[in-house]
Amino acid sequence: MTQQATSSITTLTQDELKTMVGQAALQFVVPGEIVGVGSGSTVNKFIEALGSMKDQIRGAVSSSVASTQRLQALGIAVFDSNEVERLSVYIDGADEIDHRGNMIKGGGAALTREKIVAAQSTRFVCIVDESKLVQTLGKFPVPVEVIPMAVQRITRQFAALGGSASVRLKDGQPLVTDNGQFILDVAGLQISDPLAFESEVSQWPGVVTVGVFAFQKAQVCLLAAAAGVKTMMF
Ligand code: 5RP
Repeated sequence: MTQQATSSITTLTQDELKTMVGQAALQFVVPGEIVGVGSGSTVNKFIEALGSMKDQIRGAVSSSVASTQRLQALGIAVFDSNEVERLSVYIDGADEIDHRGNMIKGGGAALTREKIVAAQSTRFVCIVDESKLVQTLGKFPVPVEVIPMAVQRITRQFAALGGSASVRLKDGQPLVTDNGQFILDVAGLQISDPLAFESEVSQWPGVVTVGVFAFQKAQVCLLAAAAGVKTMMF
């Protein structure tokens, strides 16, 4: 590869990588069907790209108020998840993904609805740039949606596992999710067994959703890098 080619490849910004992978995800959208749509800046690129296919799909089930607004602004019908029994595909980003398709999600505070839509979908297609691929989950603080009255007890439970939990703030106040709850961000965990971790934390009273997606892991990961979009199947 020439010097010039190398430097032109490496100048892709993260925003450009997100655009690339958002467009690549269109190949998984099934014409005539309703598509599951996640949340976040990478998914926003997918939603923009989906605009070009809007006449070929019936609509979308969305995992956040923000994504719903973007979809509707493009003229894409948004269905309540209760109106749709099964989706063939759910497309969403992640904060981390490992080599088996387990993920940390919830950086955008939409983890509960994301897990619900993922659970009603046959195939989870995760769209990320290569910075999100990890050997072991946990460098990114794990988001956990919690009932506010349980914050202190859950914080102590994470401390017993070696994690340091803090309430996510917005404008100096606890961030309130689309579901009216708080988010704890838990740093310092090394999640070597994501299924066991998700099972355990999900049972703690006051936990609404833990942002480890092992039961609803990805079946496909589209990984954007300077050299192009790589497809990983799990
Ligand atoms: C939102 C999420 C997002 O998918 C995750 O935070 C990745 O977001 P981005 O594409 O902006 O990096 O889980 O709750």
